[in-house]
Amino acid sequence: MGAVILGTGSCLPEKILSNHDLGKIVDTNDEWILSRTGISTRRISGQGEATYQLGAAAARKAMEMAEVTVEEIDLIIVATMSAHMLMPSCACFIQKELGAVNAFAYDVNAACSGFLFALDNGDKFLRVEKGKKILIIGTETLSSRTNWEDRNTCILFGDGAGAVVAEYQDNERGVIASNLLSDGTLWNLLYMHTAPSCNPDLQLADNPGSHILMEGREVFKYAVKAMEGAIRDLLSRENVDMDSIDLMIPHQANIRILRKLVSRLGVKEEKVFINVQKYGNTSAASVPIALDEANREGRFKRGDLLLVCSFGGGFTWGASLLRW
Ligand code: UT7
Repeated sequence: MGAVILGTGSCLPEKILSNHDLGKIVDTNDEWILSRTGISTRRISGQGEATYQLGAAAARKAMEMAEVTVEEIDLIIVATMSAHMLMPSCACFIQKELGAVNAFAYDVNAACSGFLFALDNGDKFLRVEKGKKILIIGTETLSSRTNWEDRNTCILFGDGAGAVVAEYQDNERGVIASNLLSDGTLWNLLYMHTAPSCNPDLQLADNPGSHILMEGREVFKYAVKAMEGAIRDLLSRENVDMDSIDLMIPHQANIRILRKLVSRLGVKEEKVFINVQKYGNTSAASVPIALDEANREGRFKRGDLLLVCSFGGGFTWGASLLRW
């Protein structure tokens, strides 16, 4: 049908930052963070855990599960907004790290929705280039793009990577369809500058540095509405009803966003995979990390119908349906 996932992998940095630890850095506490976000801990990268290194480690685990060698990989798509360099791409660094000599590689930036957008790219590539094998990776070190003095944002984010190996198969398995959307008019509710421009004419007076800025309450409202709309449209287009979904794997940003979304959609909570309490919001890495954990915990089996969805800066959002 479409891109069939042959293996999943993830990699989380060793260092764990708890809500108590954050209370020593900014004016916050465990009770506030837990009740407003559902997050208890997040992982923070140290040396040897750069964005591309986490991504490569996740990719190795996915290839191991898929029993695919690195030489068989034809394409590497990496979703990230926190690569350690703007150029070359994170994907090229991962290619070098893995020794994927037969692959071409590029990055996708759709903020927290990056993995869904990359999965759709990969799916469409495979439907044309049948017989190829690809790596799709979401990897972030948002700790490097966080203002550690801003309690509105620094409590939310974490580092990590997730990866999948995929190929086209002429059967009922794989990505069925995706519904992806963007609205650039709302860019200023969630954004991050680059380094200041070297061209004085293009310098922005209000560039405070390259870290995340967010109007949390507005983002919250849009996120619920937007994901609900994307999911309802996708399911109705594909003639699938909500009860046939075996497991929903949403972007892990905030437990309250997830609960609201799930209750509006009428999905039972036991059919929703949640790990935001452990890792916080890992942006483009969040869906593939959750997919890998759910896979390794045996939360779904061959033939099950999975629904993934996401929302992020841009705004970008969407949903995908997969037959495992
Ligand atoms: O992937 C998409 C990326 N982003 C998101 O998904 C984030 C979406 N938004 C959210 O998750 C929530 O809006 C937050 C968790 C960011 C904030 O929760 P909230 O319930 O919307 O709180 P709020 O921003 O309305 O703030 C309530 C109060 C404020 O105090 P006042 O003005 O009422 O006195 C804040 O200053 O809580 C205060 N506050 C905090 N207090 C303790 C904000 N951050 C903190 C903090 N600790 N870390």
